[in-house]
Amino acid sequence: MRIEPAGALVGHIAVPGDKSISHRALLLGAVGDGETAIEGFGRSADTEATLAAVRALGAAVEEHDVDRLEVQGRGLRGLDEPDAPIDCGNAGTLARLAPGLLVGQEGRTFELTGDASLRARPMDRVADPLRRMGADVETTDGRAPVRIRGVGTLRAVDYELPVASAQVKSAVLLAGLFAGGRTTVVEPAPTRDHTERMLEAAGVGVIRRPTSVSVEPARAGLRLGRVEIPGDFSAAAPFVVAATLLPGSEVTIHAVGLNPRRIGLVDVLERMGARIAVYNRRVVGNEPVGDLEVRSAELVATTIEPREVPQLVDELPLFALAAALARGESVVRGAQELRVKETDRIETVTTSLRGLGVRIRSAKDQIRVRGVPTRPKGGGVDAAGDHRIAMLGAVAGLVSREGVELQGAEAVAVSFPGFFELLDTIAQR
Ligand code: S3P
Repeated sequence: MRIEPAGALVGHIAVPGDKSISHRALLLGAVGDGETAIEGFGRSADTEATLAAVRALGAAVEEHDVDRLEVQGRGLRGLDEPDAPIDCGNAGTLARLAPGLLVGQEGRTFELTGDASLRARPMDRVADPLRRMGADVETTDGRAPVRIRGVGTLRAVDYELPVASAQVKSAVLLAGLFAGGRTTVVEPAPTRDHTERMLEAAGVGVIRRPTSVSVEPARAGLRLGRVEIPGDFSAAAPFVVAATLLPGSEVTIHAVGLNPRRIGLVDVLERMGARIAVYNRRVVGNEPVGDLEVRSAELVATTIEPREVPQLVDELPLFALAAALARGESVVRGAQELRVKETDRIETVTTSLRGLGVRIRSAKDQIRVRGVPTRPKGGGVDAAGDHRIAMLGAVAGLVSREGVELQGAEAVAVSFPGFFELLDTIAQR
């Protein structure tokens, strides 16, 4: 696909429902008591994998509309043993969160697998703490396929996360629902807390402290009733960055999730000089939501410290592009988690942007960008099957002088199938 340079982005848009929350709504709905009505469900290849998974586990799901689903809960311990391995596709969140629920399905066995990218990603980070809780979990050399045999009751643990990962935290908290007492997870840095918020909404006892969170066993079951899902900030992010970088832009993105642990990119861009305003702040489904108005701005360089990384972990590729047009040297420190995403994103971001004429270097856990306030030349970007790299290539094309030839653009469907069509509606050429 060829991405031509754009003049400005102008208009009003809405983005698909939050992917992280959509996965969680289906998974918790499946083990809930009674029905869960999901509104604003984000359709994507990743969330379709979770939809298929919960159906394979015995939960009936009615699709009233593209974004309105109704899940018939099987109760906390009532999932079926599927006939075939569960295919998580590219969805790391499904592969990491589902085990937390499957370990408590006594006497049933499960196998989770996925595509080549997923099968290359670490799964021991989830299997290790679950085993400590007494679960029977077997990985394949630390990766998927993962085999799980459900047990009756798990041991409550205090678990200190070795890496700041919301997926691992969530798996332990979910397993904690089946434990004999209170399960606590200590975080090295704050990560997204959608699981905690949804468990709370479902009536589970959740205790939150600045650096840790505990759950009580779900003796009374889970009852969500209705989940309204806000727009996905990570899907809004390409538009936020493109509008910031393209002079004359003015874009409003309506009803976006503004969970403080997700919007690190807003904080970082603001300190670089971006003009981002939030209107209509409200709370939807236990999550903060608002409308984002983004106008173009000239940026200056900044440094992202390790503690901040989880708050914009999926937006760091876009940050690197913003840094390319920001005056001075920008640095990301402590970004080693990027190496185990859908691709090694330190590598794919560096290679992609360098190929377009950006002065970018990387080391083990760092990215350094020498920014200049002029458009990069352009060239070719290979998404390498990674949806976030495909969107990076698209935004890079818009802000370049000569455009970008994007290989593997179809990867956007992993999280945002209508991405290019939406971009076309607001890009002035
Ligand atoms: C996610 C957590 C993050 C993020 C991923 C979604 C989640 O992963 O990168 O896209 O929904 O919990 P880690 O927890 O591995 O950092």
